[in-house]
Amino acid sequence: MRLSINIDHVATLRNARGGTVPDPVGAALIAERAGADGIVCHLREDRRHIRDVDVVRLRKIITTKLDLEMAATPEIIRIALQVKPDLVTLVPEKRVELTTVGGLDVVRLKRPLKKTISRFHDKGIPVSLFIDPVRDQIQTAKEIDSDMIEIHTGEYANARTERSRNRHLERIHAMAVFARKLGLGVNAGHGLDYDNMKPVAKIREIEEVSIGHAVIVRAVFVGLEEAVREMLELLKEK
Ligand code: PXP
Repeated sequence: MRLSINIDHVATLRNARGGTVPDPVGAALIAERAGADGIVCHLREDRRHIRDVDVVRLRKIITTKLDLEMAATPEIIRIALQVKPDLVTLVPEKRVELTTVGGLDVVRLKRPLKKTISRFHDKGIPVSLFIDPVRDQIQTAKEIDSDMIEIHTGEYANARTERSRNRHLERIHAMAVFARKLGLGVNAGHGLDYDNMKPVAKIREIEEVSIGHAVIVRAVFVGLEEAVREMLELLKEK
């Protein structure tokens, strides 16, 4: 299973003092040196962490792959079409939320999403949709030509009892199998950490996980390179 590191929180820390450090692009390079397979950043409408210039620099400097998380708004679509990331992950976005809450409602947004996906495909950019592990959502993702899905693991990560956690895990597994049968690529992410990662790492149908908060938090104590390495070790364990 591959690991992509989300560096948004490095930008949050930088913005707290309005200067240039810590540099999220520097963080991306350290994550790559530690063995990460890709870098993820989310260019939000309010630019609360990652800024336009960060995305442009990341595109130029990193040597793995750039996954740009974004809401399908005209402004951000225009930027993404210029930057040409290796993958665009479409997410829902609400101004007041602390982080992405819930997956995209692909069923409800079928027509506009189909148009957006086709615009990216015209430029040769593959698209992933961040969705809850729900059959209809996955089926519709396939129907509108998405290349892959990212399964929202937030409910699994936040489950308060073992029973509930196992239930969410089984659902994630079943939906990953379903998506792969349809020919979709399968990523997963949100809320994954050093304690809850192992069972997800065993799901062979999931090709890649995208992790931000837990790794950056760990990095505060052990450094980013070590934090990424520790997570990679967990992904290797079967
Ligand atoms: N995947 C998506 C689509 C996200 O929006 C986020 C949060 O930015 C993540 C993965 C990473 O979540 P976390 O920071 O909880 O690891």
